[in-house]
Amino acid sequence: MNSAAALPLAGGSISPRAFRTIVEVVHSYCGIALGPDKQNLVANRLRKRLVVLGLRTYDDYCDLLAADSTDTEIESLIDLITTNHTLFFREPEHFRFLSERVLPLLGPTMARSGKPVRMWSAACSSGEEPYTMAIVAAETQRREGGFQWRLLGSDISRAMVAASTRAVYSSSSLNGVPADLLHRYFLRGVRSRDGYVRVDPELQRQVRFDRINLLDPVYPVGELQHVIFCRNVMIYFDEESRAKVVKQLVRHLLPGGYLFVGYSESLGGLAHGLEAVSHGVYRRP
Ligand SMILES: C[S@@+](CC[C@H](N)C(=O)[O-])C[C@H]1O[C@@H](n2cnc3c(N)ncnc32)[C@H](O)[C@@H]1O
Repeated sequence: MNSAAALPLAGGSISPRAFRTIVEVVHSYCGIALGPDKQNLVANRLRKRLVVLGLRTYDDYCDLLAADSTDTEIESLIDLITTNHTLFFREPEHFRFLSERVLPLLGPTMARSGKPVRMWSAACSSGEEPYTMAIVAAETQRREGGFQWRLLGSDISRAMVAASTRAVYSSSSLNGVPADLLHRYFLRGVRSRDGYVRVDPELQRQVRFDRINLLDPVYPVGELQHVIFCRNVMIYFDEESRAKVVKQLVRHLLPGGYLFVGYSESLGGLAHGLEAVSHGVYRRP
């Protein structure tokens, strides 16, 4: 066999059977619903992976997935299919709401109880969202004083959990972060690290990261949470997975706690028992 024959078919053809199998595997593993229009996207994103694995066709790849008892290849597949786009202070109204409405309310109560306000960024991608929450919590604490807080960031992707834990970002990704916050919460790289920043270690210490698949029946998050951000991930799920995840998230929320979903997401049509308090913000009564 020559080397050209070892590559997937030029033009990226994926058989209907292989596409169907991949759609089913992705959906049952992480809830993402790939419509029929995603055939080329799937073929393109997997093409290099086939080359790396020395496979000739997408059907061979499906055989490998079927034999993957450790989920290693499924995790690589999910990494290739998912969108990890995120930003510091993305959808900024949510951080204003956290800073002006949620933390000033919960902070004093928790300070009296001697326990921290517990926050969770589920589906946190490379960490910009939880570190933004951490900056907002630290700023509120400076302003109002008194309370402690803890933060958990999680994602289905081990690569994203590793990037979040590393906490190193390109300087250009901080466009839009106010200058005083930049100075207070980031360290600028020098010499070989020029062009990069890292999150201040003191802030970083208050944030821990874990790999959590939102479709799993149990979330290892410890105690119930005061605040959960689960933004821009359920948009990729079908109705059934969305309903399942929202029900689980509500179960992990304290009464009086807040759930934030993305601007373009809505919990409309789902039985969640939460009150809508602002755009994409819900409160457990
Ligand atoms: C577009 S990013 C959203 C990041 C951040 N929440 C934001 O709004 O900027 C979506 C993330 O969801 C993660 N994801 C997809 N399916 C998931 C699942 N079933 N459980 C946990 N995370 C998942 C992906 O790995 C990706 O990092």
